[in-house]
Amino acid sequence: MTRTARVASTTAPAHGRREHWSGRLAFILAATGSAVGLGNIWKFPYITGVNGGGWFVLIYLICVLAVALPIMVAEILIGRSAQRSPVMAFRKLAGARSPWQGVGWLGVTAAFVILSYYSVVAGWTLHYSWLALSQGFAGLHPAEVEALFGQVYQDPGINLFWHGLFMLLTVTIVAAGVHSGVERWSRILMPLLFLMILALVLRAAGTDGFWPALEFVFGAHGDRLTPAGVLEALGHSFFTLSLGMGAMLTYGSYLRTRDDVVATSLAVGGLDTLISLMACMMIFPIIFVAGLAPGAGPGLVFVSLPIAFGQLPGGALWAAVFFVLLAVAALTSAISLLEVAVSHFLDWRGWSRRRAAIGIGAVIFVLGIPAALSGGTRLFGGDFAAATAVLFGAGHGKNWFDLADYLASNWMLPLGGLGIAVFVAWRMGGQAREQAFMAGSRFARLYWGWVWLLRYIVPLGVLAVFLHALGVF
Ligand code: PFF
Repeated sequence: MTRTARVASTTAPAHGRREHWSGRLAFILAATGSAVGLGNIWKFPYITGVNGGGWFVLIYLICVLAVALPIMVAEILIGRSAQRSPVMAFRKLAGARSPWQGVGWLGVTAAFVILSYYSVVAGWTLHYSWLALSQGFAGLHPAEVEALFGQVYQDPGINLFWHGLFMLLTVTIVAAGVHSGVERWSRILMPLLFLMILALVLRAAGTDGFWPALEFVFGAHGDRLTPAGVLEALGHSFFTLSLGMGAMLTYGSYLRTRDDVVATSLAVGGLDTLISLMACMMIFPIIFVAGLAPGAGPGLVFVSLPIAFGQLPGGALWAAVFFVLLAVAALTSAISLLEVAVSHFLDWRGWSRRRAAIGIGAVIFVLGIPAALSGGTRLFGGDFAAATAVLFGAGHGKNWFDLADYLASNWMLPLGGLGIAVFVAWRMGGQAREQAFMAGSRFARLYWGWVWLLRYIVPLGVLAVFLHALGVF
């Protein structure tokens, strides 16, 4: 039994001797690991492509600065102040019977929901890494690559195997503890991830597609941008920065009070944004050179890109690097999702870390089975889609996979983010808030701007996401 497990398995609450990061850099690496994931390398490029690039990217950057970053500071502050996982943190700061603990419960629930389908997509990245390393995509006809994705998406055996393996990896790392598991692996995987992205961007910069891609991503055009696209940018800024569900709160609870929350948030937000833009700059040049369209949607990375790599000299190797990169990015995010739930059961029930990691990992594996079985439609049939349509309106016709993503990105994360913002801006009390912000901070002058954004701009932004999800726009 590890030292951590022994500490946690006593009936005394585990926060008595809470583990801490070994320093600020460790936190930045782990939190960036949480933030940088499938959202940056799979989703951001494809929604940029679908929305026509240009203005969409600019609007996304504004959403990150005006809405997401203020929430990130608030969320980490709650964790650092309370030194507890989400539910217990709200109990400590707002009172044992306070309804605010609902925000924490929402976060723990979202961790289960998101990880259950995230792990299935992450499983595809493992499977594609394996394919790229073993046989490569070179020599495959575009139609064959497309058929391959269809096969991966629909084959229950493949999906369950890789989903299970991915959960096993995640559980193993989280079970080892904050220090020996999460921090240790972040220190190894994050530099590796950055090097792989850099190598791919440099490779893409050597192709004729680089300038058209630069123009597409940063040029002043927005021909395909719609109001729905603007709200998609806002919703994505929550997802990509792992906000609104207690992941940053939980990681923040392993910080020491003297650690600067504002500087670390700026570092994490900056790195996450940089990596999303770099992801575009490694994917679009290769897509353009192959003469493919940028607006292919979710298949951009799993279909268009393997086709494009197949036409690039040395493409087999680059495809392998790309899918390993995607798998690594997904793993460091999944670790943080599992950590939210594990740390909750440690603080709430005094479970041992090992027991919590294995038990919760197993439950999430089971929850992911509908997503793994060809999007769940086979399992639930039309009735399930019809039932969700009645329950969730705009969720009409969605299978389990889409439904979980829709619920998490459009409802749970914005609602959690709103709860965190309103709690800190309106409920926490001016003195406590100011003290928490100033502790260890080199950015005292940002205080009032931050409070103002939390009070007015964040609630307005979240309201817009909700109205959109209800079909008002
Ligand atoms: N930020 C991750 C991504 O962009 O892929 C997804 C995520 C991880 C969301 C952890 C929420 C979370 F708590």
